[in-house]
Amino acid sequence: MSEAVLETKNMHMAFGGLVIFEAIDFSLRRGDRHAIIGPNGAGKTTFINLVTGLLKPRAGEIWFDGRNVTQDTPQQRVKAGLVRTFQINSLFKALNPLESVMLALLEREGRSKPSLRTVAQEKPLIDEAMALLDRFGLAGDAFSITDALAYGKQRLLEVVLALALKPKVLLLDEPAAGLSTQQGHEVFAKLADLPGETAILFIEHDMNLVFQYADIVSVFAAGSMVLQDTPENVRASPRVREVYLGA
Ligand SMILES: Nc1ncnc2c1ncn2[C@@H]1O[C@H](COP(=O)(O)OP(=O)(O)OP(=O)(O)O)[C@@H](O)[C@H]1O
Ligand SMILES: [Mg+2]
Repeated sequence: MSEAVLETKNMHMAFGGLVIFEAIDFSLRRGDRHAIIGPNGAGKTTFINLVTGLLKPRAGEIWFDGRNVTQDTPQQRVKAGLVRTFQINSLFKALNPLESVMLALLEREGRSKPSLRTVAQEKPLIDEAMALLDRFGLAGDAFSITDALAYGKQRLLEVVLALALKPKVLLLDEPAAGLSTQQGHEVFAKLADLPGETAILFIEHDMNLVFQYADIVSVFAAGSMVLQDTPENVRASPRVREVYLGA
């Protein structure tokens, strides 16, 4: 089996006449912590939208876990294990974190319309939900209304909800955005502790977080992937400094 869990092959994308990618050959290895960096408007979010199936590429292919998923719906990709964080919407805001995680677990188990069962029958799933919340420091908030939680905790809950689906690849678009420097480090430290089989592909503007937590970095700019290399080599690359780091 290929080492790559996610690949794009010669992927083209444009919005009308605005070319975003001329031809991206990207590869994410199993278990890697992989950062995407690049200037505003480089196409980083568009890349995630293509990979998850929210957008369709003009040409090229997307492969996930050994299969060509280019024509698959976003739901099919989630089922296969390609999961992004979803922003907590108004539904989740009205629930408490335990209820939200239970919904995600039931969805994963193919029980999105749960029949009435006793709490005792649901104990394994409740235990799993509480363990996930505990891992992200949210066990004490399990019964609080999500809307009333601090912003940083709501962002953590988004990660927990994605992880409840047992992803092979977790996609994160600026998980530390809007958080303090310390909270940002806390989120990434928790992600770094996750089991090694979950690959994480994250977009991040904070270079301290990128260089501390990524095994490998892809640099997007002006319609292409400029470089894919170790954090050390990316930091040392004159080309990257020119297009992005501005130093
Ligand atoms: N649905 C859309 N329709 C038209 N143009 C779009 C659409 N989505 C994005 N764009 C344009 O595509 C380009 C890439 O946008 P994208 O959001 O992917 O950049 P980004 O690298 O994520 O930037 P940032 O760092 O600011 O988040 C931008 O010029 C943006 O205006
Ligand atoms: Mg973006």
